[in-house]
Amino acid sequence: MRWKGRLLALIGFIAIVGSIVGAGYFLFGFYNVAASQAEPDVVAWALARTRAASVDRHATQRPPGSLDDPAIVRAGARAYTERGCVNCHGAPGVGWGKWSEGLRPYPPDLKNIVKDREPRQLFWVVKHGIGMTGMPAFGYVDDKEIWTIVAFVSKIAAVTPEEFKAWSAPTPGATPSEAR
Ligand code: HEC
Repeated sequence: MRWKGRLLALIGFIAIVGSIVGAGYFLFGFYNVAASQAEPDVVAWALARTRAASVDRHATQRPPGSLDDPAIVRAGARAYTERGCVNCHGAPGVGWGKWSEGLRPYPPDLKNIVKDREPRQLFWVVKHGIGMTGMPAFGYVDDKEIWTIVAFVSKIAAVTPEEFKAWSAPTPGATPSEAR
């Protein structure tokens, strides 16, 4: 019977040493936080899993009306440009800002992910952002405007560069410099 006690003691010892080594790895700077290299697969997996589960649990707000209205989609394209989403995520016919290539995790190409996202999830991500990543919270923007952005992003895969250019063009006469 004594071997059972020894086995338990050994397991406990390994667990304690493992925790100390694990904590030391993070506390004493061995983990590399550089954005210039891809995060280890296990970290990327854990981040993506945590994000998906968290967004899904928190995103409870439903759209106030139809998101298919072309006027709302167009207003969303304008807001998407004016609020700076283009710099990090690009848009139909528009490239990412060069510096956004240095963000880790990398800002996704939205047309590739929206088919797997519901409007309530897109709304929540834009309103609250994603902590510890470059995705900012746009909570200072009216909910109504965020829903236009959601309407546009939901359709982004089908929008042509010409449409995007026309929809996101500044209103003529909006400011003196643009009116010229
Ligand atoms: C400063 C750069 C930056 C700006 C500006 C920015 N984003 Fe992001 N966004 C990111 C990054 C980085 C991620 C990836 C986060 C992650 O992988 O967890 C992201 C993720 C997302 C996601 C995906 C979330 C998911 O469920 O996977 C959506 C949708 C999104 N952004 C929409 C927007 C919209 C709309 C705007 C403008 C209102 C915007 N972003 C502005 C950097 C940015």
